[in-house]
Amino acid sequence: KTERRVRALLAKMTVEEKFGQLQQLTWHADTGPGDGQNKECAELAAKGLLGSVLNLTGAKRCNGLQRAAVEKSRLGIPLIFGQDVIHGYLTTFPIPLAQGSSFDPDVVTADAETSAREAASQGIHWTFAPMADVSREPRWGRVAEGSGEDPYLTAKLTAAKVRGYQGADYAAVDRLAACAKHFVGYGFPEGGRDYNTADLSERRLRDVCLPPFKAAVDAGVATVMASFTTVAGVPAHANRHTLTDILHEEFGFDGFVVGDYTGVQELIAHGIAADGADAARLALGAGVDMEMVSTTYAQHGTKLLAEGKISRARLDDAVARVLRVKFRAGLFDHPYVDEAAEITAPSAAARTAARTAAARSMVLLRNEKHTLPLATRTGSIAVIGPLGDDTKELHGTWASIGAALFPAVSVLDGVKRAAPAATVRFARGCAVEGDDTGSFDEAVAAARAADAVIAVVGEKAAQSGEAAARSDLTLPGVQAQLVAQLAATGTPLVVVVLSGRPLVLTGVADRADALLQAWHPGIEGGHAIADVLFGKVNPGGKLPATFPRSAGQLPLYYAHENTGRPFDPDNTYTSKYLDIPHTPLYPFGHGLSYTTFAFSGLELSAEVLPARSVADGGTTVRAAVQVENTGTRAGDEVVQLYLRDKVASVVQPVRRLVGFSRVHLKPGERRTVRFTLGRQELGFHTNDPHGEFRVEPGEFDLYAGNSSQAGLRTGFTLT
Ligand code: IFM
Repeated sequence: KTERRVRALLAKMTVEEKFGQLQQLTWHADTGPGDGQNKECAELAAKGLLGSVLNLTGAKRCNGLQRAAVEKSRLGIPLIFGQDVIHGYLTTFPIPLAQGSSFDPDVVTADAETSAREAASQGIHWTFAPMADVSREPRWGRVAEGSGEDPYLTAKLTAAKVRGYQGADYAAVDRLAACAKHFVGYGFPEGGRDYNTADLSERRLRDVCLPPFKAAVDAGVATVMASFTTVAGVPAHANRHTLTDILHEEFGFDGFVVGDYTGVQELIAHGIAADGADAARLALGAGVDMEMVSTTYAQHGTKLLAEGKISRARLDDAVARVLRVKFRAGLFDHPYVDEAAEITAPSAAARTAARTAAARSMVLLRNEKHTLPLATRTGSIAVIGPLGDDTKELHGTWASIGAALFPAVSVLDGVKRAAPAATVRFARGCAVEGDDTGSFDEAVAAARAADAVIAVVGEKAAQSGEAAARSDLTLPGVQAQLVAQLAATGTPLVVVVLSGRPLVLTGVADRADALLQAWHPGIEGGHAIADVLFGKVNPGGKLPATFPRSAGQLPLYYAHENTGRPFDPDNTYTSKYLDIPHTPLYPFGHGLSYTTFAFSGLELSAEVLPARSVADGGTTVRAAVQVENTGTRAGDEVVQLYLRDKVASVVQPVRRLVGFSRVHLKPGERRTVRFTLGRQELGFHTNDPHGEFRVEPGEFDLYAGNSSQAGLRTGFTLT
């Protein structure tokens, strides 16, 4: 039925109206360069020459503009309103990288469902999320927006987020159409500098970058956004291979591709288009259906069509894709949002969900002498550090309108609430940035006088996110010096790190008695941190990205390939650094708990299997491992399964994640966790541009445990 409606409408449209549907303009210019285009929005909508608007919020305002499109334009085609609803709308959830460390699809779903309900009530139909970019580049500020360095984890969480936003039917009043972005390779910018070149081999593209996008398509994602970067010399906005050959044809994606903000016009700066007309020809020809903010399609499309430089079939395909999503979003049947039902503040339930998500996202990196959970509920506690009383930075990058309207709960307030009988003092010590150590003495005095110190240090929200690359990943400013001085007092020191990326914590970690990576935890951050510090919540998060010892080690990720000369301490001519170890400070998958877990009995359904049948999807390898809570508290463990393909025709990672499961166990409780490995988990791509995928005979090792350094091993052979 939808297809019939699409075709019938398409048949009535003029060429100008068709190009109009392919145009998106921004109401405010708050997520990219240039000026707001609100005047043009109103005029073009009334003429039926505009498909979409981004950055307009509020039920009344959205309805007002929608009325122009629906009631004044010739065909009454509704607009689709898009917005970056990345980790919350009114209720800020932890940043996506933090959600990655939950290893818990339910956390991601809770964010997406809450966000969709709030944003949809304000007239938004479409979110530019989830970010499906795998990234192994912590210098890149947008690492905050993804699920980390691993394609398997990112794929699972991306699919969960799509389902959370869209539900079974994104026409429902409390749902949003999702957008998997940025297609593709945005997470691999050279030097970590945003927008920079990504030179990807076909196999890295297919084995590392594409799986989360495939998972999003399989989950029914409505739209996909093109990436600002190049892929093997061809900018993503002009990349027919990725957009058409892979996304449309191989993945069978039938929604639409939106360009990124002025990304079509940027083909000129990339040096691949001579002018705007050329940019429009390349981008539309490659597979970008809707142009965001720049207007090359609208300006040059009609002429390009007349000259035969754009085919009518491709134009109709692009318009049909946009209309299809609009029909599926229910816009033709209910173009207006119910203004009386607009949600204007976080509900108690939304806040609870955000608090739970934040607590489940925290990673306990170190806990010497059982410093945590803090027993000091009655003594004196010093909360120290530039982020200790903060209510703004905790929201993190790409926080939506809620961040400006509703202050986050500070760590100071969270601690005071959790320990009402304790004496809680605050000293800032220093600013996040700058070199002023003038307040150190006051902070040190407060630390000396306390039974425990909670140092809250890290990055501001704007130090990660778009265009926020950093070359130095240590704590900004003089915060590391502050931590050193606090440690020297001898008072038990808990360091809480708030950041939008993996930081270099060398020199901080070893001075801390306990170290909690809390990321930018969102509106309920202070409560969630206190929940963990005082043991109301036993931390169970794991690192979704490697923490390096030094930025000089980058890129550093667990699923690396072996060199021909792997590190050997007894051999000079092996792969290493002279000045630091080649290993990370904390590996992918690492995270402690207040209890302990033991793994045993890693078993397989068979030790010899036919490779051909696995490749055909007929045979799977089933693995089971036992995990036991050997401590005295209930807690969560993320059971992780890693695979090594020992000999293959293309060099394989030393290990890669092929399964995970977060389980909750009472003290003494034991659980058998089962995994199924099929074609997808056991195979790999070659460099063939047509996407050859192989499951090869040979020996495989399987490791189970609670980090990428898991030691429990078994093996099987594919014959
Ligand atoms: O969705 C974003 C994208 O991730 C980066 N450029 C701007 C877009 C719209 O705000």
